[in-house]
Amino acid sequence: MTDPVSDRTKASETHAASPELEWRDGDMPYSSAFGDHFYCQTDGRLECGHVFLAGNGLPDRWQGQQDFLIGELGFGTGLNFCETWRQWRKLAPPGSTLHFMSFELYPMQAEEIDRALSHWSEIDSERQALAAAWPSRPEGVVSLKLDAHTRLTVVCGPALEGVRHARQSFDAWYLDGFAPSRNADMWSPELMQALHEKTVLNGTFATYAAAGFVRRNLQAAGFVVERRKGFAGKREMLCGVKPG
Ligand SMILES: C[S@@+](CC[C@H](N)C(=O)[O-])C[C@H]1O[C@@H](n2cnc3c(N)ncnc32)[C@H](O)[C@@H]1O
Repeated sequence: MTDPVSDRTKASETHAASPELEWRDGDMPYSSAFGDHFYCQTDGRLECGHVFLAGNGLPDRWQGQQDFLIGELGFGTGLNFCETWRQWRKLAPPGSTLHFMSFELYPMQAEEIDRALSHWSEIDSERQALAAAWPSRPEGVVSLKLDAHTRLTVVCGPALEGVRHARQSFDAWYLDGFAPSRNADMWSPELMQALHEKTVLNGTFATYAAAGFVRRNLQAAGFVVERRKGFAGKREMLCGVKPG
């Protein structure tokens, strides 16, 4: 999400313990272990719309489908989930269902989620519902039925393990695992391969990342990869499809 760093060894040594959460500029979460912000400093909610929703052809694709399953690498503050849920509530066809399944190694506490998301009044009701339902000790598989049409599952643990064990086939993926230069585990060939295996035909992915090795890992896994203009002045982002 931010500039690459040369010292990747340092990041991988520190990330085993915790993401070491800091707050910058009042309500902006930052991981000192990974040396990265949780979302774009310009506006994480708008970034979510540009990168993850539009990059996966959403909300348009919701129109033709009764049940939609989104997978995410890195739940973090739940911002992507809340913004997706907000748009889903406004735009999805009546009676359809959204299942959002995220893979997260270091789940936050409800107060941390609440603090980060309070920045956006647009997602007030989603934030409140998420913070109220979030367990005091998030571990294992957190499964929340947030309303009659919306389910959130957060699989706690390393993403590679979680995705490999998932039984579902996903319609769309949000790849949001900190900058590739700071957290190569979230962009590895093995993880991209596992994602591809757990994607429906014509299913998609999107990410703000544009690093060459990420693009090559996604292509090697079998995705057709497209480069698009990134958010807030970023030259490029990646999105793509598993050909049918
Ligand atoms: C950029 S943040 C995600 C932001 C999030 N999507 C949001 O809406 O706030 C990256 C997340 O990936 C998680 N993470 C880092 N390495 C991981 C791994 N190997 N497996 C699973 N989660 C990981 C971090 O704890 C962090 O929450």
